[in-house]
Amino acid sequence: TRRITVHDIAAATERGEKWPMLTAYDAMTASVFDEAGIPVMLVGDSMGNCHLGYETTVPVTMDEIAILSAAVVRGTKRALIVGDLPFGAYQEGPVQALRNATRLVKESGVGAVKLEGGERSLPQTELLVSAGIPVMSHLGLTPQSVNTMGYRVQGRSDEAAHRLIRDAKAAQDAGAFAVVLELVPAEVAAEITRSLHIPTIGIGAGPDTDAQVLVYTDMVGLTGGKVPRFTKQYANMRKVLGDAAKEFADEVVGGTFPQPEHTFH
Ligand code: KIV
Ligand code: NA
Repeated sequence: TRRITVHDIAAATERGEKWPMLTAYDAMTASVFDEAGIPVMLVGDSMGNCHLGYETTVPVTMDEIAILSAAVVRGTKRALIVGDLPFGAYQEGPVQALRNATRLVKESGVGAVKLEGGERSLPQTELLVSAGIPVMSHLGLTPQSVNTMGYRVQGRSDEAAHRLIRDAKAAQDAGAFAVVLELVPAEVAAEITRSLHIPTIGIGAGPDTDAQVLVYTDMVGLTGGKVPRFTKQYANMRKVLGDAAKEFADEVVGGTFPQPEHTFH
């Protein structure tokens, strides 16, 4: 089996096929999703909230992304792995972006990188693509800008919608191979999807994008507390893990684990 490439996903979108993307942050979980046939995995800076215990994505470092991206690559055989460029890893300019993206490609083995912003990240996108690194763009709600933007639906006014459409076209013109649209009205996401030839990947962006992405810890019910309305919980892993831990604890306390079959003499 060879790995899926950005060309394969472009071809799938051209054939009118919808496709799924999930985040992954470790080799074991990634191997499960690879075996389940998930074609694209994002080692997102959502690892900040979902894996590393930070409150936002803002503190996530290049070292953290590089280490976990390498783990996800090692755990998979088939999926295209996309490494997220964290806050502060590309905002200084294209040369910084290229240095950090190159690290993820060479050291971690990712097949593509993602960065936030359309027009504001144009020079970065152009340089990365010209250097041979596929770039996924991320528009709409961009969590690295939480301190200026907050967490709310983007592109609701006509002006904001037009700005989003301009940003999406700018990303495509700069050579991006796909665009994530996060927390965008479905109508705006549909219009962007119609007007681009590269795939759009929605999260909280309605049913009409070419692909859908979910943060896996939300998708399997591992995330504690409140989850956004746009996610769907397909399993209750928090309960499964908690029940297993409680049963193990009870058996240890009650002296019923280990049994003879777990024991050497
Ligand atoms: O970091 C992440 O998980 C993301 C997705 C929500 C697209 O950027
Ligand atoms: Na992200």
